[in-house]
Amino acid sequence: MKTRLILFLLAVLCLLGGCAAPSGTSTDEKYDDLIVVGFSQVGAESDWRNANTRSMQQALSAENGFRLIIDDAQQKKERQITAIRNFIHQGVDYIVLAPTTEDGWETVLGEAKAAGIPVIIIDRMIDRSLATEDAGADLFTCWIGSDFTRQGNTAVAWLESRFGDVPLRIVHLQGNYGSSAQVGRSASLDEGLERNPHWTLVARDSGDFTQAKGQELVEAYLAQGIKFDVIFAENDNMAYGAIDALKNAGLTPGKDVTIVSFDANRTALMMVMAGEISFDVECNPLHGPRVRAVIEQLERGEAPLKYTYVEESAFDGQGLSQELIDSRGY
Ligand code: AHR
Repeated sequence: MKTRLILFLLAVLCLLGGCAAPSGTSTDEKYDDLIVVGFSQVGAESDWRNANTRSMQQALSAENGFRLIIDDAQQKKERQITAIRNFIHQGVDYIVLAPTTEDGWETVLGEAKAAGIPVIIIDRMIDRSLATEDAGADLFTCWIGSDFTRQGNTAVAWLESRFGDVPLRIVHLQGNYGSSAQVGRSASLDEGLERNPHWTLVARDSGDFTQAKGQELVEAYLAQGIKFDVIFAENDNMAYGAIDALKNAGLTPGKDVTIVSFDANRTALMMVMAGEISFDVECNPLHGPRVRAVIEQLERGEAPLKYTYVEESAFDGQGLSQELIDSRGY
């Protein structure tokens, strides 16, 4: 609100003093009406993340009445904390946070609250105890994102139904440790391993959700002579890297090794159609319009839902077509 007031006063001063308006904006246009949103984004580690950033840019555009300031934290929580402090200092109207990990937000979100700036969390979750009103610690306005444990359970259930009692040696490529996406998906596989004593975990490491690390890890396992039947990759980009490593070693993904992945980006769905990825659980990144709707609710003085889980599905190749893939938003 403070920023809008400043922008309004600047516009009035410009009118009186005859200074040039920002390009494409005349002084009587709605420049002073823009809602200023500071968005602390995790990084650009994956196709999913880039689709998420684009969705925010499209929904919170100047044409829609917003000025969006994006800070790319390069997967570092410390950078996100600094970005949030900068947003507070600039007096933005709203802060949107896509948190790297769940923990460590109490202090800086307390600062945003003290400054009277609503915080909307998207994608991954933060420590739920920070939303405990009884303890006076309701540090964010609302959250919109995925049920990562449900995604993991969907993938594990597919493996169980596809392979039944067949013994499986599993490689597990994890996301960055402490992120809800890693915590939820890994917990599901752990439960699957307990339920299925004929499954063996032969390797497990974090590939930080990146293609390069996914490839590096699988190359290292192959070099060590580790044998495996399944790769459980916690996102598509790590699956792409794993596929490259397998192909370079003369193995056929989908035949020699079954790949299960998460996100269901367009490129990954093409690989599902080609049989290289066997099962892909959707993780929907299109949060921009949802954030816009929440801000509009808040502007009208309405209270948004505290937690919104987005609808997601999964793909095993059946019913997939080029037309369907092209019609998807990411
Ligand atoms: O939090 C969502 C996860 O983060 C996506 O699965 C992954 O691709 C991204 O980097």
